[in-house]
Amino acid sequence: MLGGVAFGAANSVLFYGKARTMNKVVGLIALAGALAGNVAWAEAIRIETSRTLLLLEKNDKGDVGWIYWGDKADEPARKWWRGPVLSTFGGWAEEDAALRVTHADGSLTTELKLDKVERKELDANRTRTSLTLKDPLYPLTVRVDFTAYAKEDVITQQVTLTHQEPGDITVHAMASTLPAFPQGDWWLTSFQNRFLDNWPNEMHLVEERLMPGTKRIANYRSTRSAYFENPAVIVSDGPAQEEAGEAYGIAVAWTGNWQIDCRLDTGRGLSVKAGMADLGADYKLPPDTPYVSPEAILTHSSSGKGQISRNMHDYARNYVLVDGDRPNPILLNSWEGVYLTFDEAKIKEMIKDAADMGLELFVLDDGWFGNGENARDTVKAGLGDWQVNAKKLPCGLQGLADYAKSLGIRFGLWVELEMVNPNSNLAKAHPEWVVQSGKREKLQGRNQWLLDMTNPAVQDFVVASFDQILKDAPGISYIKWDANRTVANVGSTYLPKDRQANFWYDYARGLYAVYARIRAKHPHLQMQVCASGGGRVDYGALAYHNEFWTSDNTSAIRRVFIQWGTGHFYPAKAMAAHFSRSGVGNPLNTPFPASFRLHVALVGRFGFELQPSHLTPDERKVAEAGIRAAKAYIRDIVQFGDLYRLHSPYLRDGYAALAYVAKDKTQALVFAYSLDTAYDKGPLSLKLAGLDPAKTYAIEEVLVPPARKPLKVSGQKRTGAQLMKDGLTLPIAKLYDSCLLRLRAE
Ligand code: DGJ
Repeated sequence: MLGGVAFGAANSVLFYGKARTMNKVVGLIALAGALAGNVAWAEAIRIETSRTLLLLEKNDKGDVGWIYWGDKADEPARKWWRGPVLSTFGGWAEEDAALRVTHADGSLTTELKLDKVERKELDANRTRTSLTLKDPLYPLTVRVDFTAYAKEDVITQQVTLTHQEPGDITVHAMASTLPAFPQGDWWLTSFQNRFLDNWPNEMHLVEERLMPGTKRIANYRSTRSAYFENPAVIVSDGPAQEEAGEAYGIAVAWTGNWQIDCRLDTGRGLSVKAGMADLGADYKLPPDTPYVSPEAILTHSSSGKGQISRNMHDYARNYVLVDGDRPNPILLNSWEGVYLTFDEAKIKEMIKDAADMGLELFVLDDGWFGNGENARDTVKAGLGDWQVNAKKLPCGLQGLADYAKSLGIRFGLWVELEMVNPNSNLAKAHPEWVVQSGKREKLQGRNQWLLDMTNPAVQDFVVASFDQILKDAPGISYIKWDANRTVANVGSTYLPKDRQANFWYDYARGLYAVYARIRAKHPHLQMQVCASGGGRVDYGALAYHNEFWTSDNTSAIRRVFIQWGTGHFYPAKAMAAHFSRSGVGNPLNTPFPASFRLHVALVGRFGFELQPSHLTPDERKVAEAGIRAAKAYIRDIVQFGDLYRLHSPYLRDGYAALAYVAKDKTQALVFAYSLDTAYDKGPLSLKLAGLDPAKTYAIEEVLVPPARKPLKVSGQKRTGAQLMKDGLTLPIAKLYDSCLLRLRAE
């Protein structure tokens, strides 16, 4: 019973005016008489999570509109039609259409009318509401699936187009979602790569007030879907606050080209069109072939963007990440330690050091494959020849895995299977597999070409190479999957000449097909997604992985900003954060203090990115204490707790602080950093959040920087209410001081 009106199969049949089997058809409310503009509105379609309501409506002309998205408690009495659920090109529509198609007969216009609504309980937490929309004049059907995740307050939306026209249609544009909002002071929070000191800084927070017109963020480079701009935004009424105000999170789960268009119209308000990018992507679609949009992930909070993040983190852990409920290991990755220059003795020494330090996994990065003139001794050769380099590693990969096992740790491996160096046997054997545009030069990026994943033969090769690596070395229990270039001079020798523009969609689908085949065979293999750092931090790729490499920038000071941005949409559990010796961004030009680096790395999936033999004894002591604490209690709270951002580094007042609070609120970890020496900087005054006001917490400073004594607050007790209202004063003003407070409820 919704909106005070009973409905069910009988109403549904009545509503559609046709007798048919309606066992799944529910969700239609007759609210005749209510008016939105000039259009009488007849049936509401309610999509609900525990806190939020997304209200759609069918009017008497059969159009479906977006009415309301927000807290259930704030459902407006007067229902205004904000915009179509999926605007089409044609009629009087003014929108930059969410769906634009050229029909088989050349007609440019499309109209969509609601045919039916079906609702299905997937399980106790998830309900799917499917709208079937049809063009009255063409055999073209669009299904819009909304899946509501009750506990997580997340709604996903996906669009599927099929047709039975007498030939191909061309799909010029098909968005995943088009939420529409009333007038307001709309702000956009997006995440963009900012290059500083010649290093990338993925997920840099950008906040701006939306002005009339369209603001677009997009990726047109395909393979590195999230490198320059991330397919996730927050729109908020007023500048987004952490724990107050209306905020809406919208993410596109797509490892390809995408765009998010925020269109502000002073008359009508804001609409956000999000989905695949239209540019050069006119898709030739044959009859009876579903064309499926990426999922858009929607979440709302009336208590600030902090809740947007917590909703997304819960959704990621519960429904997206592989084994999202299992802790991720503390590891050493070899890249920054040895790059491509190593031999068996060096790697074994690293494995031994990793084991001695208490780490759980060693990952051998790039450089282990290719032989003879194609040996991967530089980035100019080897990609494509996925056989172990017998000269560098005579004991083979299984030999290394056995060695690691004998020392009580696991072994993992880096691959980049979508790529090929011109200097490889593969490039010579299959030049036609390279992405290429007719006679134009095959442009090299990082000395490599991209394999054409639209081609099933290439997909088979990638899967077979992956399988062979694991067959030869079954001791591998973790894979880092990298992708270090984007598309240039797009084109495929596999796709027919009239279907070259299908490349973008078919590449992403080809990649997902490969991931899916690998996952079917290796469901619990731990996998990290990487694309020159955080280039594939998107919800499409994450569905096949356990975690992601956040950035090649491992400088602790830069990571404070990168991880701050990343945590807005992606959970700490998946966010690889490695203690390294990078001094990038440090005016002193030296590595940051070891405890500062440790405290920064501990807020994500903790690990190391260095040559352990380069650690000074003091650094190693700090690192080992961190590993012990991570295993004992930090990992559980960080990977499975709730994130509260307390003091933003983007305020640029020289501080940053955040907390992870265990779900039952009995424990919390507070991390605070001193980032620079602003001239008027006093001690950090910090109000906590997310605690139980009624509980009394014992405060202990842990992993205290060796350079100073524990803070006075260590050993004291405060109630949650005091900590959240009065807060704490933390005297950590000295450059690169930092602290970690452990709070335990009595
Ligand atoms: C880029 C990745 O982001 C690095 O971590 C490393 O794996 C290199 N590629 C290896 O080529």
